[in-house]
Amino acid sequence: MSARRFHIETFGCQMNEHDSEKIAGLLAHRGMVWVADPRQADLFLINTCSVREKAAQKVYSRLGEFKRRKKKDPDFTIGVIGCVAQQEGEEMVRKAPFIDLIVGTHMYHTLPDLLDDVAHKRRHSSDGSSVATQFLKDPVPVEMEVGPVRGSRFRANITIMEGCNKHCAFCIVPFTRGKERNRPARQILDEARTVLADGFSEILLLGQTVNSYRNPDQPRYRFAHLLDELAVLKGLRRLRFTSPHPREFSDHAVQVIGSHPTICNQVHLPVQSGSNPVLQRMRRQYTRESFLHLVEKFRNCGREISLSTDMIVGFPGETEANFEDTLSLVREVRFESMFSFKYSPRPYTEAVGWEDEIPEEEKTRRLMILQRLQREIQLEIHHEKYAGRQLEVLVEGPARDGEHLCGRTTSNKVVNFSGSAEPGDYADVQITRVGPNSFLGEQLAEPAGVER
Ligand code: F3S
Repeated sequence: MSARRFHIETFGCQMNEHDSEKIAGLLAHRGMVWVADPRQADLFLINTCSVREKAAQKVYSRLGEFKRRKKKDPDFTIGVIGCVAQQEGEEMVRKAPFIDLIVGTHMYHTLPDLLDDVAHKRRHSSDGSSVATQFLKDPVPVEMEVGPVRGSRFRANITIMEGCNKHCAFCIVPFTRGKERNRPARQILDEARTVLADGFSEILLLGQTVNSYRNPDQPRYRFAHLLDELAVLKGLRRLRFTSPHPREFSDHAVQVIGSHPTICNQVHLPVQSGSNPVLQRMRRQYTRESFLHLVEKFRNCGREISLSTDMIVGFPGETEANFEDTLSLVREVRFESMFSFKYSPRPYTEAVGWEDEIPEEEKTRRLMILQRLQREIQLEIHHEKYAGRQLEVLVEGPARDGEHLCGRTTSNKVVNFSGSAEPGDYADVQITRVGPNSFLGEQLAEPAGVER
Protein backbone atom coordinates (compact mmCIF):
# COMPACT_ATOMS: atom_id res chain seq x y z
CA MET A 1 0.00 0.00 0.00
CA SER A 2 1.67 3.25 -1.06
CA ALA A 3 -0.64 5.81 0.51
CA ARG A 4 0.33 6.50 4.12
CA ARG A 5 -1.57 9.65 5.07
CA PHE A 6 -5.32 9.81 4.58
CA HIS A 7 -8.13 12.30 4.82
CA ILE A 8 -11.85 11.53 4.69
CA GLU A 9 -14.38 14.22 3.82
CA THR A 10 -17.92 13.31 4.83
CA PHE A 11 -21.25 14.47 3.45
CA GLY A 12 -24.71 13.29 4.48
CA CYS A 13 -26.18 11.83 7.61
CA GLN A 14 -24.76 10.76 10.95
CA MET A 15 -24.58 7.18 9.68
CA ASN A 16 -22.11 8.43 7.08
CA GLU A 17 -20.17 10.29 9.77
CA HIS A 18 -19.87 7.08 11.73
CA ASP A 19 -18.95 5.05 8.63
CA SER A 20 -16.06 7.48 8.15
CA GLU A 21 -15.03 6.87 11.77
CA LYS A 22 -15.09 3.11 11.14
CA ILE A 23 -13.09 3.45 7.92
CA ALA A 24 -10.57 5.68 9.69
CA GLY A 25 -10.22 2.85 12.25
CA LEU A 26 -9.64 0.34 9.49
CA LEU A 27 -6.96 2.47 7.82
CA ALA A 28 -5.27 3.36 11.12
CA HIS A 29 -5.12 -0.36 11.87
CA ARG A 30 -3.17 -0.72 8.63
CA GLY A 31 -0.62 1.84 9.86
CA MET A 32 -2.01 4.82 7.99
CA VAL A 33 -2.21 8.24 9.61
CA TRP A 34 -5.17 10.62 9.46
CA VAL A 35 -4.35 14.21 8.45
CA ALA A 36 -6.65 17.18 8.93
CA ASP A 37 -5.58 18.92 5.72
CA PRO A 38 -6.57 17.03 2.54
CA ARG A 39 -3.63 18.67 0.72
CA GLN A 40 -1.26 16.73 2.98
CA ALA A 41 -2.96 13.39 2.28
CA ASP A 42 -1.74 10.60 -0.02
CA LEU A 43 -5.24 9.15 0.05
CA PHE A 44 -8.31 11.36 -0.21
CA LEU A 45 -11.65 9.67 0.39
CA ILE A 46 -14.95 11.39 -0.10
CA ASN A 47 -17.89 9.81 1.72
CA THR A 48 -20.98 10.77 -0.24
CA CYS A 49 -24.72 11.26 0.17
CA SER A 50 -27.30 10.91 -2.58
CA VAL A 51 -30.45 11.72 -0.68
CA ARG A 52 -30.97 14.85 -2.79
CA GLU A 53 -29.77 15.65 -6.29
CA LYS A 54 -27.80 18.69 -5.12
CA ALA A 55 -25.82 16.64 -2.60
CA ALA A 56 -24.89 14.13 -5.31
CA GLN A 57 -23.79 16.89 -7.72
CA LYS A 58 -21.60 18.43 -5.02
CA VAL A 59 -19.44 15.29 -5.08
CA TYR A 60 -18.31 15.91 -8.65
CA SER A 61 -17.46 19.55 -8.06
CA ARG A 62 -15.45 18.60 -4.96
CA LEU A 63 -13.65 15.83 -6.87
CA GLY A 64 -12.88 18.28 -9.69
CA GLU A 65 -10.85 20.34 -7.20
CA PHE A 66 -8.45 17.40 -6.78
CA LYS A 67 -8.08 16.59 -10.46
CA ARG A 68 -5.16 18.96 -10.97
CA ARG A 69 -3.28 17.53 -7.98
CA LYS A 70 -3.77 14.06 -9.44
CA LYS A 71 -2.22 15.18 -12.74
CA LYS A 72 0.86 16.52 -10.96
CA ASP A 73 1.13 13.63 -8.52
CA PRO A 74 0.02 10.31 -10.04
CA ASP A 75 0.63 8.54 -6.71
CA PHE A 76 -2.09 10.58 -5.06
CA THR A 77 -5.10 8.30 -4.56
CA ILE A 78 -8.69 9.47 -4.84
CA GLY A 79 -11.52 7.27 -3.62
CA VAL A 80 -15.29 7.67 -3.47
CA ILE A 81 -17.29 5.81 -0.84
CA GLY A 82 -20.85 6.04 0.48
CA CYS A 83 -24.25 6.36 -1.10
CA VAL A 84 -23.31 8.02 -4.42
CA ALA A 85 -20.57 5.39 -4.88
CA GLN A 86 -23.17 2.69 -4.25
CA GLN A 87 -25.74 4.30 -6.52
CA GLU A 88 -23.51 5.16 -9.51
CA GLY A 89 -20.66 2.63 -9.27
CA GLU A 90 -18.67 2.32 -12.52
CA GLU A 91 -20.65 5.21 -14.00
CA MET A 92 -18.63 7.54 -11.75
CA VAL A 93 -15.39 6.43 -13.41
CA ARG A 94 -16.84 7.29 -16.79
CA LYS A 95 -17.71 10.77 -15.55
CA ALA A 96 -14.45 11.26 -13.61
CA PRO A 97 -11.77 8.82 -14.90
CA PHE A 98 -9.18 10.12 -12.41
CA ILE A 99 -10.98 8.35 -9.52
CA ASP A 100 -8.85 5.43 -8.31
CA LEU A 101 -11.37 3.53 -6.28
CA ILE A 102 -15.07 3.35 -5.62
CA VAL A 103 -16.46 1.48 -2.65
CA GLY A 104 -20.16 0.94 -1.97
CA THR A 105 -21.86 0.84 1.42
CA HIS A 106 -21.71 -2.97 1.76
CA MET A 107 -18.05 -3.29 0.83
CA TYR A 108 -16.10 -1.10 3.26
CA HIS A 109 -14.33 -4.11 4.73
CA THR A 110 -12.61 -4.58 1.34
CA LEU A 111 -11.03 -1.12 1.34
CA PRO A 112 -7.51 -2.20 2.45
CA ASP A 113 -7.42 -4.88 -0.29
CA LEU A 114 -8.63 -2.37 -2.85
CA LEU A 115 -5.85 0.02 -1.85
CA ASP A 116 -3.36 -2.82 -2.36
CA ASP A 117 -4.98 -3.38 -5.73
CA VAL A 118 -4.52 0.29 -6.67
CA ALA A 119 -0.84 0.11 -5.59
CA HIS A 120 -0.35 -3.08 -7.60
CA LYS A 121 -1.81 -1.49 -10.72
CA ARG A 122 0.53 1.47 -10.30
CA ARG A 123 3.58 -0.74 -9.98
CA HIS A 124 2.63 -2.54 -13.17
CA SER A 125 1.53 0.64 -14.93
CA SER A 126 -1.88 -0.81 -15.62
CA ASP A 127 -4.91 1.42 -15.93
CA GLY A 128 -8.32 1.23 -14.46
CA SER A 129 -10.04 2.01 -11.21
CA SER A 130 -10.83 -0.49 -8.47
CA VAL A 131 -14.56 -0.71 -7.93
CA ALA A 132 -16.51 -2.68 -5.31
CA THR A 133 -20.20 -1.92 -5.15
CA GLN A 134 -21.77 -5.35 -4.84
CA PHE A 135 -24.92 -5.45 -2.78
CA LEU A 136 -24.47 -8.49 -0.60
CA LYS A 137 -27.52 -10.62 -0.15
CA ASP A 138 -26.37 -11.92 3.18
CA PRO A 139 -25.90 -9.18 5.70
CA VAL A 140 -22.35 -7.86 5.84
CA PRO A 141 -20.96 -7.52 9.35
CA VAL A 142 -22.29 -4.17 10.43
CA GLU A 143 -19.21 -3.51 12.53
CA MET A 144 -15.71 -4.04 11.28
CA GLU A 145 -13.21 -6.07 13.25
CA VAL A 146 -11.29 -3.01 14.36
CA GLY A 147 -12.83 -0.20 16.37
CA PRO A 148 -13.63 3.22 14.91
CA VAL A 149 -11.51 6.32 15.31
CA ARG A 150 -14.09 8.51 17.01
CA GLY A 151 -14.37 12.14 16.00
CA SER A 152 -15.47 13.25 19.48
CA ARG A 153 -14.02 12.60 22.92
CA PHE A 154 -17.37 12.72 24.69
CA ARG A 155 -20.11 11.69 22.20
CA ALA A 156 -19.93 8.14 20.79
CA ASN A 157 -21.88 6.99 17.75
CA ILE A 158 -23.04 3.39 17.91
CA THR A 159 -24.73 1.64 14.98
CA ILE A 160 -27.63 -0.56 16.04
CA MET A 161 -29.13 -1.33 12.63
CA GLU A 162 -28.61 -0.44 8.99
CA GLY A 163 -30.73 -0.38 5.88
CA CYS A 164 -34.43 0.18 5.41
CA ASN A 165 -37.39 -2.04 4.45
CA LYS A 166 -39.89 0.77 4.06
CA HIS A 167 -39.54 1.89 0.42
CA CYS A 168 -41.08 5.33 0.68
CA ALA A 169 -41.83 6.51 -2.86
CA PHE A 170 -39.31 9.38 -2.72
CA CYS A 171 -36.39 7.77 -0.91
CA ILE A 172 -33.19 6.43 -2.38
CA VAL A 173 -31.84 5.02 0.89
CA PRO A 174 -33.08 1.41 0.43
CA PHE A 175 -31.21 1.42 -2.90
CA THR A 176 -27.99 2.72 -1.41
CA ARG A 177 -28.07 0.91 1.93
CA GLY A 178 -30.06 -2.26 1.28
CA LYS A 179 -32.44 -4.12 3.53
CA GLU A 180 -32.59 -3.86 7.31
CA ARG A 181 -29.79 -5.57 9.22
CA ASN A 182 -29.84 -5.50 13.01
CA ARG A 183 -26.87 -5.89 15.29
CA PRO A 184 -27.13 -8.28 18.25
CA ALA A 185 -28.08 -6.41 21.43
CA ARG A 186 -25.20 -7.92 23.40
CA GLN A 187 -22.70 -6.41 20.91
CA ILE A 188 -24.37 -3.01 21.19
CA LEU A 189 -24.38 -3.14 24.99
CA ASP A 190 -20.72 -4.22 25.02
CA GLU A 191 -19.75 -1.34 22.78
CA ALA A 192 -21.75 1.07 24.97
CA ARG A 193 -20.05 -0.19 28.15
CA THR A 194 -16.65 0.18 26.47
CA VAL A 195 -17.19 3.77 25.37
CA LEU A 196 -18.58 4.73 28.78
CA ALA A 197 -15.58 3.16 30.49
CA ASP A 198 -13.40 5.20 28.10
CA GLY A 199 -14.98 8.40 29.42
CA PHE A 200 -17.66 9.12 26.81
CA SER A 201 -20.86 10.38 28.43
CA GLU A 202 -23.25 10.74 25.48
CA ILE A 203 -24.24 7.92 23.14
CA LEU A 204 -25.97 8.41 19.81
CA LEU A 205 -27.66 5.25 18.49
CA LEU A 206 -27.73 5.06 14.71
CA GLY A 207 -29.92 3.32 12.18
CA GLN A 208 -31.77 4.31 9.01
CA THR A 209 -35.03 3.36 10.77
CA VAL A 210 -33.50 3.12 14.20
CA ASN A 211 -36.71 2.36 16.09
CA SER A 212 -37.57 -0.65 13.96
CA TYR A 213 -34.67 -2.38 15.74
CA ARG A 214 -35.13 -6.00 16.74
CA ASN A 215 -32.49 -8.18 18.30
CA PRO A 216 -31.53 -10.94 15.83
CA ASP A 217 -30.76 -13.22 18.80
CA GLN A 218 -34.14 -12.66 20.41
CA PRO A 219 -36.89 -11.36 18.07
CA ARG A 220 -39.18 -10.16 20.88
CA TYR A 221 -36.44 -7.88 22.12
CA ARG A 222 -37.16 -4.59 20.36
CA PHE A 223 -35.98 -0.99 20.34
CA ALA A 224 -37.74 -0.22 23.64
CA HIS A 225 -35.91 -3.06 25.41
CA LEU A 226 -32.58 -1.87 24.10
CA LEU A 227 -33.24 1.73 25.21
CA ASP A 228 -34.33 0.47 28.61
CA GLU A 229 -31.07 -1.44 29.12
CA LEU A 230 -28.79 1.24 27.73
CA ALA A 231 -30.40 4.10 29.66
CA VAL A 232 -29.23 2.77 33.04
CA LEU A 233 -25.62 1.98 32.15
CA LYS A 234 -23.07 3.38 34.55
CA GLY A 235 -21.47 6.60 33.34
CA LEU A 236 -24.18 7.47 30.79
CA ARG A 237 -25.44 11.04 30.95
CA ARG A 238 -27.24 11.32 27.61
CA LEU A 239 -28.69 8.82 25.18
CA ARG A 240 -29.92 9.93 21.73
CA PHE A 241 -31.06 8.06 18.65
CA THR A 242 -31.55 8.84 14.98
CA SER A 243 -33.39 8.47 12.67
CA PRO A 244 -36.73 7.00 13.72
CA HIS A 245 -39.82 6.34 11.60
CA PRO A 246 -43.13 7.55 13.13
CA ARG A 247 -44.82 4.25 12.28
CA GLU A 248 -42.30 2.26 14.34
CA PHE A 249 -42.82 3.91 17.74
CA SER A 250 -44.48 1.33 19.97
CA ASP A 251 -46.30 2.39 23.15
CA HIS A 252 -43.55 0.58 25.02
CA ALA A 253 -40.86 2.75 23.37
CA VAL A 254 -42.78 5.95 24.24
CA GLN A 255 -43.16 4.74 27.83
CA VAL A 256 -39.43 3.90 28.11
CA ILE A 257 -38.47 7.33 26.71
CA GLY A 258 -40.83 8.92 29.23
CA SER A 259 -39.33 7.07 32.15
CA HIS A 260 -35.55 7.55 31.77
CA PRO A 261 -34.12 11.03 32.33
CA THR A 262 -30.87 9.90 30.63
CA ILE A 263 -32.73 9.56 27.32
CA CYS A 264 -32.55 13.01 25.77
CA ASN A 265 -35.84 14.84 25.80
CA GLN A 266 -35.80 15.42 22.07
CA VAL A 267 -37.47 13.09 19.60
CA HIS A 268 -37.36 13.43 15.83
CA LEU A 269 -40.65 12.55 14.14
CA PRO A 270 -40.13 12.94 10.38
CA VAL A 271 -43.70 13.47 9.15
CA GLN A 272 -42.84 14.68 5.59
CA SER A 273 -46.37 16.02 4.88
CA GLY A 274 -49.56 16.94 6.72
CA SER A 275 -51.84 15.76 3.94
CA ASN A 276 -53.32 12.25 3.85
CA PRO A 277 -53.39 11.89 0.04
CA VAL A 278 -49.74 12.96 -0.12
CA LEU A 279 -48.74 10.66 2.76
CA GLN A 280 -50.48 7.83 0.97
CA ARG A 281 -48.67 8.49 -2.31
CA MET A 282 -45.40 8.78 -0.39
CA ARG A 283 -46.15 5.32 1.11
CA ARG A 284 -45.44 6.57 4.61
CA GLN A 285 -47.72 3.98 6.27
CA TYR A 286 -49.41 6.44 8.63
CA THR A 287 -52.07 9.11 8.37
CA ARG A 288 -52.18 12.65 9.64
CA GLU A 289 -54.53 11.43 12.39
CA SER A 290 -52.34 8.54 13.52
CA PHE A 291 -49.31 10.86 13.48
CA LEU A 292 -51.15 13.38 15.68
CA HIS A 293 -52.07 10.53 18.00
CA LEU A 294 -48.38 9.65 18.33
CA VAL A 295 -47.55 13.28 19.09
CA GLU A 296 -50.20 13.17 21.82
CA LYS A 297 -48.56 10.08 23.32
CA PHE A 298 -45.24 11.89 23.55
CA ARG A 299 -46.96 14.94 25.08
CA ASN A 300 -48.40 12.66 27.79
CA CYS A 301 -45.39 10.44 28.39
CA GLY A 302 -44.47 12.07 31.70
CA ARG A 303 -41.58 14.24 30.50
CA GLU A 304 -41.38 17.39 28.45
CA ILE A 305 -40.26 16.12 25.04
CA SER A 306 -39.11 18.50 22.34
CA LEU A 307 -40.32 17.30 18.93
CA SER A 308 -38.59 17.94 15.62
CA THR A 309 -39.48 16.85 12.11
CA ASP A 310 -38.60 16.63 8.40
CA MET A 311 -40.90 18.03 5.75
CA ILE A 312 -40.94 17.74 1.96
CA VAL A 313 -42.81 20.29 -0.15
CA GLY A 314 -43.77 19.90 -3.80
CA PHE A 315 -44.09 16.12 -3.86
CA PRO A 316 -45.65 15.15 -7.25
CA GLY A 317 -49.35 15.95 -7.22
CA GLU A 318 -49.25 18.07 -4.04
CA THR A 319 -52.13 20.54 -4.46
CA GLU A 320 -52.44 23.90 -2.78
CA ALA A 321 -54.99 22.32 -0.42
CA ASN A 322 -52.55 19.49 0.40
CA PHE A 323 -49.89 22.07 1.16
CA GLU A 324 -52.34 23.97 3.40
CA ASP A 325 -52.79 20.71 5.34
CA THR A 326 -49.04 20.63 5.92
CA LEU A 327 -49.14 24.19 7.24
CA SER A 328 -52.07 23.39 9.53
CA LEU A 329 -50.26 20.32 10.90
CA VAL A 330 -47.22 22.48 11.64
CA ARG A 331 -49.46 24.97 13.49
CA GLU A 332 -51.14 22.18 15.41
CA VAL A 333 -48.05 20.24 16.50
CA ARG A 334 -45.70 23.23 16.94
CA PHE A 335 -42.47 21.32 16.27
CA GLU A 336 -39.45 22.83 17.98
CA SER A 337 -37.36 22.43 14.87
CA MET A 338 -37.73 21.27 11.29
CA PHE A 339 -35.60 20.25 8.33
CA SER A 340 -37.60 21.18 5.24
CA PHE A 341 -36.78 20.48 1.61
CA LYS A 342 -38.13 20.79 -1.89
CA TYR A 343 -38.90 17.38 -3.34
CA SER A 344 -36.14 16.21 -5.65
CA PRO A 345 -36.66 13.10 -7.80
CA ARG A 346 -34.11 10.39 -7.13
CA PRO A 347 -33.15 7.51 -9.44
CA TYR A 348 -34.69 4.05 -8.86
CA THR A 349 -37.41 5.42 -6.58
CA GLU A 350 -41.08 4.86 -7.28
CA ALA A 351 -41.92 8.55 -7.65
CA VAL A 352 -39.20 9.33 -10.19
CA GLY A 353 -40.84 10.46 -13.40
CA TRP A 354 -44.34 10.66 -11.89
CA GLU A 355 -46.51 13.16 -13.62
CA ASP A 356 -47.81 16.20 -11.78
CA GLU A 357 -44.30 17.44 -11.10
CA ILE A 358 -44.68 20.72 -9.24
CA PRO A 359 -42.80 23.57 -11.01
CA GLU A 360 -39.56 24.58 -9.31
CA GLU A 361 -40.75 28.16 -8.59
CA GLU A 362 -43.86 26.79 -6.91
CA LYS A 363 -41.78 24.42 -4.76
CA THR A 364 -39.60 27.38 -3.76
CA ARG A 365 -42.67 29.47 -2.89
CA ARG A 366 -44.11 26.71 -0.70
CA LEU A 367 -40.80 26.09 1.00
CA MET A 368 -40.43 29.77 1.86
CA ILE A 369 -43.95 29.93 3.33
CA LEU A 370 -43.32 26.79 5.39
CA GLN A 371 -39.94 27.98 6.64
CA ARG A 372 -41.32 31.40 7.58
CA LEU A 373 -44.10 29.77 9.59
CA GLN A 374 -41.70 27.38 11.31
CA ARG A 375 -39.34 30.20 12.21
CA GLU A 376 -42.17 32.14 13.88
CA ILE A 377 -43.31 29.07 15.82
CA GLN A 378 -39.78 28.19 16.85
CA LEU A 379 -39.15 31.67 18.18
CA GLU A 380 -42.45 31.66 20.09
CA ILE A 381 -41.67 28.29 21.69
CA HIS A 382 -38.16 29.38 22.59
CA HIS A 383 -39.53 32.48 24.36
CA GLU A 384 -42.31 30.56 26.13
CA LYS A 385 -40.29 27.56 27.14
CA TYR A 386 -36.63 28.46 27.45
CA ALA A 387 -36.12 32.20 28.03
CA GLY A 388 -34.70 32.83 31.51
CA ARG A 389 -34.30 29.15 32.34
CA GLN A 390 -31.24 27.44 33.75
CA LEU A 391 -30.21 24.55 31.55
CA GLU A 392 -27.50 21.92 31.51
CA VAL A 393 -25.26 22.19 28.45
CA LEU A 394 -22.79 19.62 27.15
CA VAL A 395 -19.86 21.77 26.05
CA GLU A 396 -18.65 21.09 22.51
CA GLY A 397 -15.95 23.76 22.14
CA PRO A 398 -15.52 27.42 21.22
CA ALA A 399 -18.49 29.12 19.55
CA ARG A 400 -18.15 30.45 16.01
CA ASP A 401 -17.98 34.04 17.24
CA GLY A 402 -14.67 33.22 18.94
CA GLU A 403 -15.89 34.83 22.19
CA HIS A 404 -18.20 32.25 23.67
CA LEU A 405 -18.31 28.53 24.33
CA CYS A 406 -20.83 26.43 22.49
CA GLY A 407 -22.79 23.35 23.54
CA ARG A 408 -26.14 21.59 23.44
CA THR A 409 -28.94 21.01 25.87
CA THR A 410 -30.62 17.62 26.22
CA SER A 411 -33.35 18.99 23.91
CA ASN A 412 -30.59 19.58 21.33
CA LYS A 413 -30.71 23.39 21.50
CA VAL A 414 -27.48 25.15 20.61
CA VAL A 415 -26.33 27.43 23.44
CA ASN A 416 -23.49 29.95 23.11
CA PHE A 417 -22.39 31.09 26.53
CA SER A 418 -19.69 32.85 28.48
CA GLY A 419 -17.87 30.64 30.95
CA SER A 420 -14.78 28.60 31.52
CA ALA A 421 -15.78 24.98 30.88
CA GLU A 422 -13.85 22.47 28.77
CA PRO A 423 -15.21 20.42 25.83
CA GLY A 424 -16.98 17.37 27.25
CA ASP A 425 -17.94 19.16 30.51
CA TYR A 426 -21.56 19.64 31.56
CA ALA A 427 -22.06 23.32 32.34
CA ASP A 428 -25.08 24.84 34.07
CA VAL A 429 -26.11 27.84 32.05
CA GLN A 430 -28.51 30.71 32.67
CA ILE A 431 -30.26 31.49 29.38
CA THR A 432 -30.20 35.24 28.81
CA ARG A 433 -31.45 35.50 25.22
CA VAL A 434 -33.26 33.18 22.84
CA GLY A 435 -33.31 33.30 19.04
CA PRO A 436 -35.01 31.03 16.51
CA ASN A 437 -31.92 28.85 16.10
CA SER A 438 -29.76 29.25 19.18
CA PHE A 439 -29.62 30.68 22.69
CA LEU A 440 -27.21 32.95 24.52
CA GLY A 441 -26.30 32.38 28.16
CA GLU A 442 -23.93 32.65 31.09
CA GLN A 443 -22.41 29.78 32.96
CA LEU A 444 -23.58 29.61 36.57
CA ALA A 445 -20.93 29.43 39.25
CA GLU A 446 -23.34 27.83 41.68
CA PRO A 447 -26.11 25.92 39.98
CA ALA A 448 -29.48 25.78 41.68
CA GLY A 449 -32.15 23.41 40.42
CA VAL A 450 -30.82 23.25 36.88
CA GLU A 451 -32.94 21.15 34.57
CA ARG A 452 -31.14 18.12 33.27
FE1 F3S B 1 -27.48 10.39 2.44
FE2 F3S B 1 -27.04 7.80 2.34
FE3 F3S B 1 -27.34 9.00 4.68
S1 F3S B 1 -28.32 8.97 0.95
S2 F3S B 1 -28.74 10.66 4.19
S3 F3S B 1 -25.72 9.35 3.27
S4 F3S B 1 -28.10 6.97 4.11
